[in-house]
Amino acid sequence: MSTPLESPLPPLLRAAAGLPGDRVPVWFMRQAGRSLPEYFEVRGEGSILQAISDAERATEITMQPVRRYDIDAAILFSDIVTPVWVSGFGIDITPGVGPTCDRPFTSAADLERLRPIDDDDLGFQTDTVRALVDQLPHEVPLIGFAGAPYTLAAYLVEGRPSKDYAKVKAMMFAEPELWHALADRLADYAIATLRNQVANGARAVQLFDSWVGGLRPEHYREFVQPHSAKVLAAMAELDVPRFHFGINTGELLADMADAGAEVVGVDWRTPLSVARERTGGRVGLQGNLDPALLSAPWEVVEPEVRRVLDDNGGHPGHVFNLGHGVTPSANPETIARIAEYVHTHGTAMGDGSTGAAG
Ligand code: CP3
Repeated sequence: MSTPLESPLPPLLRAAAGLPGDRVPVWFMRQAGRSLPEYFEVRGEGSILQAISDAERATEITMQPVRRYDIDAAILFSDIVTPVWVSGFGIDITPGVGPTCDRPFTSAADLERLRPIDDDDLGFQTDTVRALVDQLPHEVPLIGFAGAPYTLAAYLVEGRPSKDYAKVKAMMFAEPELWHALADRLADYAIATLRNQVANGARAVQLFDSWVGGLRPEHYREFVQPHSAKVLAAMAELDVPRFHFGINTGELLADMADAGAEVVGVDWRTPLSVARERTGGRVGLQGNLDPALLSAPWEVVEPEVRRVLDDNGGHPGHVFNLGHGVTPSANPETIARIAEYVHTHGTAMGDGSTGAAG
């Protein structure tokens, strides 16, 4: 990586700091993986955790979208369950299903299965992050990430992906002490993971709380926000911008902003202008194109990309992204065109203008 002292801040870090620049940064959640034919050439059989724990493969998969698209960030190829997996709790990712546990978390006795983790458990991650930092250009920062306590707990308690999160919510309401003990351990997992990533060269972090949108704001504030805030506060001293994301979080945006991130993710349901009002302009916003558009014809996609930029109104604190991850059916050519369109037509001049820059 070349880092001349006087080189300008990369667009991603500039936008995260709310600074105007000549380019609206763009990257795509889940930009690596199943939408790319080259992914299947290296993925291998079995659980995706095998590929994640093989530094050479994980590095290659992270780099694939960076080579293919003109994007402003790489995101470490890993998963939110990686720290739970290395702890030996007993979690795997079942192909076509998602995270599954043979023995889900049901009682205080299960806390013992969640031993603390440290850098020694994350050797493959250290190697992957270092290899990536060597390869990535200065303008393309590596984003590290972790799962937030609620979303991780959902997999541990439900034992598999859920539609209603009934078990994890029941634990939260009926056994608050147990819930807080679980969430606190998972916060420590996120902190250990993110510290390892940043210590080895990740230049931004994203805390994924994908499923938190199923909670009422009062419950979010009581049961979830303190644990996510603990993770984000532990990152404050590391001097990297913190992104915080969930879906269906229109009602939670202000509370998520209060958890302590510089940038809050917004899904496609809430216009960026509304999200900015709800967060009082105190955070940057990331989003928020509907990922379903990635398999639509360009004539349909273009006005929607335009609309996202217009909704943002030229505000400098905007990182263009999807409202959730790239779907396996996405067309990579559409992704490439979106990145190009955002760079050509987006403005982040800090004057509220929405005119095309080029
Ligand atoms: O490119 C990137 O964005 C980095 C890769 C990444 C993966 N998982 C790899 C992966 C990231 C950022 C994640 C995060 C993640 N994992 C989240 C938060 C983001 C989100 O989408 O909300 C969540 C909720 C998970 C849990 C998880 N892991 C799910 C729901 C699945 C999909 C299950 C399926 O097969 O449909 C996984 C598996 C997974 N993680 C895959 C990848 C590339 C698919 C694995 C495969 O190739 O079989």
